[in-house]
Amino acid sequence: MRSRNNEAVNVSASLDMLMNLSLRQNFTPVLDDRNMFIGIVTRRDILTFYQQYITINDNEETYFNPTINKIMARRSIRRFTNEQVTYEDIETIVDAGLAAPTAANRRPVHILVLQEEDKRRELYEKNNRGRLIAEATAAIAVYGDTNIEENEFLLNNDCSAAMQNMLIAIEALGLGGVWISAKDEDWRNLVTEVYQVPKEYKLYGMIAFGHPNEVKETHGSADPNKVHFNKW
Ligand SMILES: Cc1cc2nc3c(=O)[nH]c(=O)nc-3n(C[C@H](O)[C@H](O)[C@H](O)COP(=O)(O)O)c2cc1C
Repeated sequence: MRSRNNEAVNVSASLDMLMNLSLRQNFTPVLDDRNMFIGIVTRRDILTFYQQYITINDNEETYFNPTINKIMARRSIRRFTNEQVTYEDIETIVDAGLAAPTAANRRPVHILVLQEEDKRRELYEKNNRGRLIAEATAAIAVYGDTNIEENEFLLNNDCSAAMQNMLIAIEALGLGGVWISAKDEDWRNLVTEVYQVPKEYKLYGMIAFGHPNEVKETHGSADPNKVHFNKW
């Protein structure tokens, strides 16, 4: 007999539920679908889990919301280790990109994943813009379908929203990436040609990414001169 019975949860219990229980009891028993005991989750387990979302830095502001924390931590990463990016991570990044908003929900954005090193090297050999694309572990090209979105301004917006979602996803996965501009026509033509992309798709931006081999300070809070409340 125990002096106090800790409330148990089913194995499919949410993190929120575990978190709430951990405020009252220092461990939570976990039961499977047949109500058999399969283990415990301690308060320490939960604190350790949430700790990964929090960057505590003496000089910088700390954001306890994990999403805000990742947005604020993102920096352009231009040095990468040799470690490969997993297919699962690439899939997650692409999902994040295509989950971005698009004008009138027309969804004109296409994503081309550039994993093969030979082709990425070919881009660099033919155009200096490709240096980071070749040096990174993988890259992504964001194309807009000019038939689906005929307004160039909106197509650019749609592709940029996908770009930013992917940069945040890259940060959130513990990877690092950098936006590579597609402003030059010769560069756009080269990528489109090497990857045989049909002409109705226009390249709006690329991301070189991989496991980071540099650490950068966050930008910190907004510059008040750039923020205008109710009047300019
Ligand atoms: C539209 C756009 C194009 C960019 N093009 C390049 C590029 O071609 N090469 C590069 O190294 N960085 C590029 N960047 C990254 C910027 O240089 C970088 O975001 C900026 O210096 C701020 O640094 P941070 O990203 O670490 O906050 C680009 C960023 C944007 C938004």
